[in-house]
Amino acid sequence: MRAILCETFGPPEGLVLAEIDKPEPGPGELLVRVHAAALNFFDTLIIENKYQFTPDRPFSPAGEISGVIEACGEGVDAGRVGERVIAYVRWGGARDYVVIKVEEALLMPDGLGFEEAAGLMITYGTTIYALRSRAKLQPGETLAVLGASGGVGLAAVEIGRLMGARVIACASSDDKLALCKAHGADELLNYVKLDLKSALKSLTDRRGVDVVYDPVGGDLAEAALRATGWYGRFLVIGFASGTIPKMPLNLVMLKSVDVLGVFWSESILIEPQAHAENMLQIMEWVKAGDLKPHIDRVYPLEKTPEAIRAIANREAKGKVIVSLV
Ligand SMILES: NC(=O)c1ccc[n+]([C@@H]2O[C@H](COP(=O)([O-])OP(=O)(O)OC[C@H]3O[C@@H](n4cnc5c(N)ncnc54)[C@H](OP(=O)(O)O)[C@@H]3O)[C@@H](O)[C@H]2O)c1
Repeated sequence: MRAILCETFGPPEGLVLAEIDKPEPGPGELLVRVHAAALNFFDTLIIENKYQFTPDRPFSPAGEISGVIEACGEGVDAGRVGERVIAYVRWGGARDYVVIKVEEALLMPDGLGFEEAAGLMITYGTTIYALRSRAKLQPGETLAVLGASGGVGLAAVEIGRLMGARVIACASSDDKLALCKAHGADELLNYVKLDLKSALKSLTDRRGVDVVYDPVGGDLAEAALRATGWYGRFLVIGFASGTIPKMPLNLVMLKSVDVLGVFWSESILIEPQAHAENMLQIMEWVKAGDLKPHIDRVYPLEKTPEAIRAIANREAKGKVIVSLV
């Protein structure tokens, strides 16, 4: 079978397309024919050994997949062959077949194609965990989303709207903001043209925003923290800018702000029941037609390096997909 392999840590151009043995499912496992794999910002980091996990090499990028069950290991109902499933696989999705634990497979919702379904787990899972489980976002509250046209950012625009918040989408270009508008943002803020703190303050009658969703970090983080209101919540999602901010704690003290860490992939291991409930809500929204991942670009497997390059170059909006079938 085909696989994109990271044999040596480095930039996307160092990834290679290889033929490797097809795996066998063990007890309690499923063999899934991958139809599509979604890429995320962390794929740009994991192949350079700059991420919090270091997989054994060679490994494949892509942390989430959609596909069809082709074989079942011992102890798994063989009647499941042919089911369409999605799964979060941490890494290793950019290959023709993956083996996953039976409990990792979620049934693919009707009404979505494989490419859209491949991008359901990470961005929506992270965002519902952040907004619902961590920030406890309430209807009528104001939510500022940084990097709002990116993978997790656009998910925050959509889920924030579904939770009844007033969503201020913040991004680096009017083109990116137009996509956020189409996905339900109430207000648009271009942080290249405007000062983020002042603009957020003026959009909230000087009161400040209730919740900040920050997957970008860098200088924008402190500006957004300064624009939170009384009992504000600041969600630390990630650092796509490449800079982990260091912030003065007096900003947190003066407005009784909560700074909330969000580590979704660890939370699903520690709190599997809460994760299952969050994913159930995501699936209900998907089935109702309220959520649908925006697919920016689709690449064939052999073009995975180009796909990861587009994310690293800050060009992608929504999801970037590798199609295998
Ligand atoms: N905590 C968790 O559990 C969790 C889960 C998933 C993802 N994350 C993290 O969230 C962050 C975003 O992930 P993603 O997959 O949504 O990424 P993405 O689709 O690439 O979006 C990132 C956004 O960040 C902004 N950005 C600012 N400076 C950038 C730069 N130098 N390079 C690239 N983008 C830059 C871009 O928006 P503008 O151009 O509009 O500024 C871009 O749309 C990453 O740090 C990722 O590791 C964390």
